[in-house]
Amino acid sequence: MTVLSEVITLHNVTFGYDEITLLRDVNFQVQHGEFWGIVGPNGSAKSTLLKLMLGLLKPQSGTCSLFGTPVGEFRKWDQIGYIPQNVREFNMGFPATVKEMVSANLISQMGAFKWMNAHHRKKVEEALHIVGMEAYAARRIGQLSGGQQQRVFIARTLVNSPKVIFMDEPLVGVDVESQEKFYELMEKLNRQMGITLIMVSHDIGVVSERTSHIACVGKEKLFVHDANTFNPEEYLESIYGEKTRLVHHAH
Ligand SMILES: Nc1ncnc2c1ncn2[C@@H]1O[C@H](COP(=O)(O)OP(=O)(O)OP(=O)(O)O)[C@@H](O)[C@H]1O
Ligand SMILES: [Mg+2]
Repeated sequence: MTVLSEVITLHNVTFGYDEITLLRDVNFQVQHGEFWGIVGPNGSAKSTLLKLMLGLLKPQSGTCSLFGTPVGEFRKWDQIGYIPQNVREFNMGFPATVKEMVSANLISQMGAFKWMNAHHRKKVEEALHIVGMEAYAARRIGQLSGGQQQRVFIARTLVNSPKVIFMDEPLVGVDVESQEKFYELMEKLNRQMGITLIMVSHDIGVVSERTSHIACVGKEKLFVHDANTFNPEEYLESIYGEKTRLVHHAH
């Protein structure tokens, strides 16, 4: 028997950066072990929604909670992994190795002197192993392919044994083969390791095949669908008009 336990709750959340409201009275709940895909057109507030869930933005009204705690009072940030949009562009020129990048996320656990002990080293090795990047530990981050970098960012979150990982368009610029590997990795994190996943993506067709739930953002609202019964073609028609065809493509 699976016991439901809440990971994220949004209650009557309304938000806009200025006088334009982007989200109005949004309600939804993510339970432990679910895999959510967040879809919607450019500028529909997908990234904004993640930032609200993470407490990086404050709703104008309503509440966001993590594990039942209002996000403003939440302190167990080690349990949360977040890979922001365009993280790879930002890090490309950074002169750190894969191992250094992954280790750096352990800093909050390292104590006053910031030394890595055997336990920390093992965590880093394990994380790189899970994402299949242990052979690249000494490589500079800028010398990896886009798909490989994405795996390193996932390893970086894994050193803290997160309970939930938020990813904002992790697959932009990643080819079909690497996408396939990425989804295999997601399945491992989700099904075997029990990590709840929240992923923003534009690839509606693929997302609906891989996730358990779909949240469609647009026109101030958020519509939640069970991924099993979600019809991507109908959804695209509803936002882009009748002539839209679903295209499976690499970015
Ligand atoms: N810091 C900000 N200040 C003011 N407006 C903002 C800010 N960040 C985003 N916006 C605006 O809010 C709207 C939603 O932005 P958001 O980044 O959440 O969209 P998105 O759905 O993630 O889009 P994309 O698919 O392009 O990533 C956009 O119109 C954007 O221009
Ligand atoms: Mg975005």
